[in-house]
Amino acid sequence: MYVREPGIDRLYPSIFGRMATRYYYLRQLRQAIEDVIAKFVAPSPVKLVLADYGCGNKPYESLIAPFVDKYIGIDLPANQIADIHITPEGTIALPEGNLDVVLSTQALEHVVNPLFYLSEARRVLKDDGMLILSTHGYWMFHPDPTDFWRWTSTGLQKIVTDSGFEVIYFKGIIGRAAMGIQLFQDAFTFRVPKPLRPLLALILQPLIYVFDKTTRQRFKDRDACTFILVARKVQKK
Ligand SMILES: C[S@@+](CC[C@H](N)C(=O)[O-])C[C@H]1O[C@@H](n2cnc3c(N)ncnc32)[C@H](O)[C@@H]1O
Repeated sequence: MYVREPGIDRLYPSIFGRMATRYYYLRQLRQAIEDVIAKFVAPSPVKLVLADYGCGNKPYESLIAPFVDKYIGIDLPANQIADIHITPEGTIALPEGNLDVVLSTQALEHVVNPLFYLSEARRVLKDDGMLILSTHGYWMFHPDPTDFWRWTSTGLQKIVTDSGFEVIYFKGIIGRAAMGIQLFQDAFTFRVPKPLRPLLALILQPLIYVFDKTTRQRFKDRDACTFILVARKVQKK
């Protein structure tokens, strides 16, 4: 039986733990998701219904749950902690216009057909519904269970816009110089015995921090490890 581990180590990684080599990235991603939730979800006068589409082990549920009426995890049938499984055709078993928010974190690069995935996200959203999506620019190959795509800032905005959304917020997380070190670390880590990997992370993660903090946000918005966006559903012309 396939049961996923709880996502707590993704949400609060330890520099000495399993996620040491992802320490800076996962913290930046959590901060970016918290910022978006605070800006676009928390202020809503009515409590919203949100689906986490490609929820994995639901790492961000505890951040989101206080601000929504209902959090629904959607994933492939193999994910036993998902509340809804997508059908063999890839559709979401929910009626049209059902949800206020679709959240998609680090899923788009894994889906076989991103246009179809986004069209399903749009279909289940209410007319003024909101898509919150993060996915990778630069990142190593990491099948879960597959890995198909990487995005440029403009390519990601184009596919989301072409899918019937208007992008209202867009941000790059971790710039090019810092990502050069992250990718070097990811290449080198697997040559290092497992017990020593946190030591490598202890040396390289602070460097990633320094290079990232000295990169201007407008450069990261073009070229980044990960992009996070918020988009509103619009009527197709
Ligand atoms: C890297 S994991 C990300 C999980 C979680 N969102 C996170 O941020 O940690 C990618 C997830 O996308 C799911 N996935 C892949 N293709 C999918 C699809 N067509 N529809 C829904 N989920 C899908 C995978 O099963 C996996 O749980």
